[in-house]
Amino acid sequence: MAKKFFDHIIHGGDYNPDQWIKTPEIWDEDMRLMKLAHINSATVGIFSWAAIEREEGVYDFEWLDTILDKMHRNGISAILATPSGARPAWLAEKYSEVLRTDENGIRNKFGERHNHCLTSSIYREKVRNINRKLAERYKNHPALKMWHISNEYSGECHCALCCEAFRKWLKEYYHNDIDELNFKWWNGFWSHSFNSFEQINPPSGRGESNTTGLYLAWKRFITDSHISFFENEIAPLREITPDIPVTTNFMRRYNGIDYQKFAGHVDLVSWDNYPAWDRGKNLGEALEAAFLHDFFRSTKFGQPFFLMESTPSLVNWHDVNKLPKSGIHELASMQAIAHGADSIQYFQWRKGRGGDEKFHGAVVDHCGHENTRVFSNVTKLGKVLEKLGSAVGTETASRVAVIYDWENGWAVSSFCGYNNIHRDYVKECIKWYAPFYKRGIGVDVISMQDDFSKYDAVIAPFLYMLKDGTEERIEKYVKNGGCFVATYLTGIVDSDDLCKLGGFPAGNLKKVFGVWCEETDSLPEDMPGKAEFNGKVYEVNHICDIIHTNGAKVLGKYKSDFYNGQPCVTENAFGKGKAYYAAFRNDSDFADDFCEMFIKCNAIAPDAEIPLGDGIFLRKRGNNIFIMNFNDDERDIVLDKEYTNVITCETVCGKITLPVCGYIVIKQC
Ligand code: GLA
Ligand code: ZN
Repeated sequence: MAKKFFDHIIHGGDYNPDQWIKTPEIWDEDMRLMKLAHINSATVGIFSWAAIEREEGVYDFEWLDTILDKMHRNGISAILATPSGARPAWLAEKYSEVLRTDENGIRNKFGERHNHCLTSSIYREKVRNINRKLAERYKNHPALKMWHISNEYSGECHCALCCEAFRKWLKEYYHNDIDELNFKWWNGFWSHSFNSFEQINPPSGRGESNTTGLYLAWKRFITDSHISFFENEIAPLREITPDIPVTTNFMRRYNGIDYQKFAGHVDLVSWDNYPAWDRGKNLGEALEAAFLHDFFRSTKFGQPFFLMESTPSLVNWHDVNKLPKSGIHELASMQAIAHGADSIQYFQWRKGRGGDEKFHGAVVDHCGHENTRVFSNVTKLGKVLEKLGSAVGTETASRVAVIYDWENGWAVSSFCGYNNIHRDYVKECIKWYAPFYKRGIGVDVISMQDDFSKYDAVIAPFLYMLKDGTEERIEKYVKNGGCFVATYLTGIVDSDDLCKLGGFPAGNLKKVFGVWCEETDSLPEDMPGKAEFNGKVYEVNHICDIIHTNGAKVLGKYKSDFYNGQPCVTENAFGKGKAYYAAFRNDSDFADDFCEMFIKCNAIAPDAEIPLGDGIFLRKRGNNIFIMNFNDDERDIVLDKEYTNVITCETVCGKITLPVCGYIVIKQC
């Protein structure tokens, strides 16, 4: 059993009662409606700074006292937010340094949100102060169950304070040795050598934007700045409410912060999931959601995560905001629980009358009553979630891992060369994740620094960067019996984007895989190559390595270009394990066909012996097996034996029909 933060699934979401201070009768209506919808938690105060501290040092907690009391009386837990995501106008007016500066050095005006400097000691002090006030006031409030720190940390600031902090960070990172930095960034190129750290500026379109070493350092610095901003925020909370867990909501694939690093600083990982349902691509959306659930869960092993936001209907920020059909939200919520979520939460509880998000989906619409499609969908889900208490805190075990490494993603997206259009790192990782997920084999999505030894197989798409020690850890893993799959452009650079010398893949990996790569080709969209594997011919799309074997068995060969006949898929027995090299990219079936062979040859068993058709996904969590139909039509599945339906408590066996958006949660009898 993993760590349990609650003994039931949290069902709630972003609640903004401060927008309704002038109509407190709405607050009572909120309580009635929340209970009706089987909502048991609400996240309050996310953007409430101006409502709490109306002027500097002038506080009004009365409305929040009232709300928290009401919530408690009605059995609704509070996830209390710190308000740093948007500051009051008085603060920006009085202390302009708190506002963000863009990469051209121009300071923003007051407005929007997330518009703050990460370094400003004034802003940090003001945030600490308001957080302390909140903690002191509510430390003993029985509704308070969790802290929601700020909101979707993001962005960067280029003010003089941040530039100075960056130089300090560089000094530490490069051991106060400018020559080390010059070497690591290969600054002999274009006469870029620095004489001192003081000469260095953050990347900018008007300055340096091509030095990848600088780019990576800046990304790392921004991640560390967010983490230290977060640590500053939580210091008073840790002191005053040491037993209340803290989280901050991560934002899907937001590239600006290394979430694998940040996760180490929160008690519980939470994230916001907004797939674009019902636009003809539900299977792709469901695969990506599954991948991201497994990614966020894997950033903090052995623990559940929280789904902090999802929409109960549409969003307002697509070009065209399609209403999703009934059922898809319930299905998507089951998927989140199946992958390790202990909460289903919404943005937003009630639509505001004004502001940018007044047409964003909400549980309660402007009509104000419960007789709506969305409200009844949410209520139905709320009742189901109450039956899934046994899932809370349980682990989601996996026998396979896909490496999706955040820093590798930065490196892959930033170098210049080969195919400059099609990098698609996430897409590639999902492509290699999907074959396992589709076959009911649980996958963890890990970083290259995580422990490989607990997995039967590790798949590492496009592992271009090798951080210190990774090469040795791959070697050890395979030697000890692991199965490792690598693709094109593996083991090319170190963590500063300096190329490895002596042939690719780097160092001993040439022995582990039994291959070496002489050249890498890039193929224009309309000039795909050809490759044969297992008697089937595939297109070579975008990129491929031209490799030579050095002991590896050839499983596939190129069928085009001057490298016609050379190997493109190999298998190498190394120690007690096997290392595979898939040297080309293919945008259709190759990864799936390869994995089918790989799964059979290496006897990787699914989590349940239940055959799944297309678009039917299975995930086991604890003793519960979730089977979900993401197709646009009903599908049959045949259970291999008798199970108990966890929601209805009935015994089920044989053929089961899953309607559109249908799912079943079963466990062994
Ligand atoms: C994000 C934010 C919310 C809201 C939603 C809208 O996830 O955290 O405040 O803006 O998007 O979808
Ligand atoms: Zn700044």
